[in-house]
Amino acid sequence: MVVTSSLAYLAAPLALLPGVWATPTSSQGPSGTSASLVSSSAPSSTPTTPPGNSTGFSGYRNALYYSNWSIYGANMQPQQIPADQVTHLLYAFADIGPDGEVKSSDSWSDTDKHYPGDSWSEPGLNAYGCVKQLYVLKKKHRRMKTLLSIGGWTYSPKFAPVAATKASRERFCNTAVTLLKDWGMDGLDIDWEYPTNAEQAKDFVLLLQTCRAALDSYAAKHASNYHFLLTIAAPAGPQHYNHLNFTAMDPFLDAWHIMTYDYAGSWDATSGHQANLFPSKSNPEATKFSTERAVNDYIARGVPRRKIVLGLPLYGRQFVGTAGPGHPYAGIGSDGSIPGQPGIWLYKDLPRPGATEHFDAEVGAAYSFSKATSKPGSTGTMVSYDTLTSAKRKVDYLLEKGLGGAVFWEAAGDKTGEESLVAAVKKGMGLPDQTQNWLSYPASRYTNIKMGMPGY
Ligand SMILES: *[C@@H]1O[C@H](CO)[C@@H](O)[C@H](O)[C@H]1NC(C)=O
Ligand SMILES: *[C@@H]1O[C@H](CO)[C@@H](O)[C@H](O)[C@H]1NC(C)=O
Ligand SMILES: *[C@@H]1O[C@H](CO)[C@@H](O)[C@H](O)[C@H]1NC(C)=O
Repeated sequence: MVVTSSLAYLAAPLALLPGVWATPTSSQGPSGTSASLVSSSAPSSTPTTPPGNSTGFSGYRNALYYSNWSIYGANMQPQQIPADQVTHLLYAFADIGPDGEVKSSDSWSDTDKHYPGDSWSEPGLNAYGCVKQLYVLKKKHRRMKTLLSIGGWTYSPKFAPVAATKASRERFCNTAVTLLKDWGMDGLDIDWEYPTNAEQAKDFVLLLQTCRAALDSYAAKHASNYHFLLTIAAPAGPQHYNHLNFTAMDPFLDAWHIMTYDYAGSWDATSGHQANLFPSKSNPEATKFSTERAVNDYIARGVPRRKIVLGLPLYGRQFVGTAGPGHPYAGIGSDGSIPGQPGIWLYKDLPRPGATEHFDAEVGAAYSFSKATSKPGSTGTMVSYDTLTSAKRKVDYLLEKGLGGAVFWEAAGDKTGEESLVAAVKKGMGLPDQTQNWLSYPASRYTNIKMGMPGY
């Protein structure tokens, strides 16, 4: 059966940022404001390890998606992003117009919403909303880069026609770079789920090539040739990635964020693990896909290990009326954390009361299980998700394999403190990516971003 969507849980009512060789901080201020910008935001010391260029290794990536679901449903405001734990924040998602224009999907959330402290009367056109808050976080956390994530499951049908002509590819990339420079971001992340044939795969390469060129041309004009990032959300299912031309795409990419989750769900005949590392020999139905297979295929097809970033879900998929992983189930239940998305629980709401957590070391996957009765043969409820134990196993795996880091979908699902998966994975990996974000956007249409957000 087909993985219908990584990001699947956002597919319905709600559909749901790298690198950089930092140029010296002294050149980062917009002209005219450089003194205040640099004094308030430049790190006091240079990085302990030399930052790399896009091919050199400059530390592990700990990337996190942040979406407008966070702002509304989960009431997680951008100020709550754990910026000290995150090397790349992926802001999801921008929409795509029929002519290829990349545009805000929600201008209230992006630039209009006023947070406490935001002025209603300052002169000029100013950015508020998440865009301002992300820039403020970047000033305080110089290792956190922000990327604008474009597409995602809901908007993905719009990619194929846009990628098919030179004019719409250019419109796509130029308007994406316009948003990047207006919003003060460090890169673009393209979530096309998925190219379905060789023609689309070819168009995808051309789209990446065009965007890489647009980023470089902007950087030459306005950002001292800073390396703005280009990444993609990449499929974990062979039926999807078999279409991709890996060697043609790779030179344009800083990282491949593999969506190594959603391996099992409501579309399957039996329950299963949604994010297992390995296939099960004893119970193959429980592991319909595996991360090991995807990672080995990416490596075999020429993707450098350090550019491979493993996806971890911050949510669980529920199966009710089942004897456990790999068995028939009665349904996914009508309960869950997200209105309109039954059967999906955020990690912070797990395990459910009365359920016990298990870790299957053979497959590298965790799940919870609770039985309604203790009668032999009675069935129970299984939820497949990552725990601190399975996340630690994934860290060991990615270190052993020499991969580049981890990426989480998505911010609102995490727990805080010692139980945070984002924090545990960062700590487990060690040396976080050392490259610095960029703060100088002299051509932004927003006065406060152009001025380097004075006062913060
Ligand atoms: C959030 O973003 C999605 C696209 O990802 C969009 O369809 C939706 O209107 C936005 N707003 C809300 C309130 O979810
Ligand atoms: C980037 O880094 C790699 C590895 O450190 C090095 O071999 C390569 O020459 C560098 N490229 C540039 C353009 O500096
Ligand atoms: C992949 O792209 C390369 C160019 O980089 C091309 O030579 C090759 O034919 C492409 N492969 C397929 C299967 O299209």
